[in-house]
Amino acid sequence: MKIKKIPESILLPVIDFSKNFTDVCHHSKEENSLFPALEQAGLPKNMDPIAMMLIDHERSREIATNMEASAQEYLSSGDSTKLVSDMQQYVEHITEHLWKENNRLFMMAEARLQYVAKKVDGELNEIEATKLKDLGKSRKHYEDLAENLTRDVAEQGN
Ligand SMILES: [Fe+2]
Ligand SMILES: [Fe+2]
Repeated sequence: MKIKKIPESILLPVIDFSKNFTDVCHHSKEENSLFPALEQAGLPKNMDPIAMMLIDHERSREIATNMEASAQEYLSSGDSTKLVSDMQQYVEHITEHLWKENNRLFMMAEARLQYVAKKVDGELNEIEATKLKDLGKSRKHYEDLAENLTRDVAEQGN
């Protein structure tokens, strides 16, 4: 079997995307705008589903941090065991989390937030813009990155 290496030029952007884009353009927006709006609409933060979502977000930050460390480890040692298991964990965790949001949280949100949707929408955009600026990145940067990675990974497969 041909042993394939993950090039640094693919690995590092993948980690950056998973860690930073997901946190800034996703979790932070929910935590700083959507959840407070839901709280005002009568869904307490310390009860499910929001409490569960907050735990999930914390866990995904942990896994992303582990993944970043194991990527560095892989690049220096060539041993991919920990990196692969962290990545699998990340994918599983995020997939489950998104399922819960799409099928539970967002349905409740839609029903409760219809009168404040515009305000929440504006806040979400503002949070993303501010946090991305702090990070020195833009949404376009991450969109291009995702596109380039898809292409690079496809080429690696050839
Ligand atoms: Fe989400
Ligand atoms: Fe979330």
